[in-house]
Amino acid sequence: MIRLERVTKVFGTVTAVDSVDMEVPAGAVCVLLGPSGCGKTTTMKMINRLIAPSSGKIFIDGQDTAGVDEVTLRRSIGYVIQQIGLFPNKTVEDNICVVPDLLGWPRTKSRKRAAELLEMVNLPPATFLKRYPKELSGGQQQRVALARALAVNPSILLLDEPFAALDEMTRLALNDDLLRLWEAHRPTILFVTHSVFESVYLSTRIAIMSARPGRIAAELEVLLPQPRERSLRADPAYGTMCESVSRTLSDAMSSAAASDAPALPSPASGRG
Ligand SMILES: Nc1ncnc2c1ncn2[C@@H]1O[C@H](COP(=O)(O)OP(=O)(O)OP(=O)(O)O)[C@@H](O)[C@H]1O
Ligand SMILES: [Mg+2]
Repeated sequence: MIRLERVTKVFGTVTAVDSVDMEVPAGAVCVLLGPSGCGKTTTMKMINRLIAPSSGKIFIDGQDTAGVDEVTLRRSIGYVIQQIGLFPNKTVEDNICVVPDLLGWPRTKSRKRAAELLEMVNLPPATFLKRYPKELSGGQQQRVALARALAVNPSILLLDEPFAALDEMTRLALNDDLLRLWEAHRPTILFVTHSVFESVYLSTRIAIMSARPGRIAAELEVLLPQPRERSLRADPAYGTMCESVSRTLSDAMSSAAASDAPALPSPASGRG
């Protein structure tokens, strides 16, 4: 379980995240949805302790992360960053084994795991293990990034727009791959996306952030049947939920825009 209590991040004069309260229950898939620049990546990085909150607390399984060794914490969380982030000078196999190697796993165990993970993300190991990132398409790189995040079977996965750069068909396929992986191991997942359709398809709960400074403007439960299957996309209940999320998102964006706008001069104050 991940819990944020009044978490704020200020960069210089910019408040990126403003007093966010949020909970991702153990084994749930929650989505963070919000306009560009509202603080989603900053929130993910604070959970992973890549950056420290200016104030507030973050708990993982009830433990305040401020008191946990940050390297240990980071290695225990699977994180797919927004820009994929594969090491260009390492093969696919060595990229996937970065954390197992740091943890001192025997080589035979980690390399066997890399091959299993490639199978799981639908990349035949015989073809892909020894390739370098530049020899892969964007979608294949994204699959490797996901495999790497899963390497040590983490109980928490932070996925920051992992499929945003992909074509629609690859994205749909990866959504299903991710759900099958989640059903097998039930990690707690926090997933950032800009896609309303993706957010509804994947999650049981959606937290909507307003424009900067990012606040949680609304939280919606997604009460659609599990396991999620392709046929759900044709279900009217799915369409209704997408519509409701879209409306809530657009309300959050317009109320933030209104509160950011300079006050209009009243007619009495005008110089006529
Ligand atoms: N290290 C930093 N120093 C200063 N400002 C930062 C830093 N990191 C992020 N910001 C600012 O904080 C705000 C939130 O950034 P963040 O990357 O969290 O947004 P985001 O919601 O992930 O956006 P996107 O959807 O475009 O990825 C932005 O205004 C950004 O410019
Ligand atoms: Mg981001």
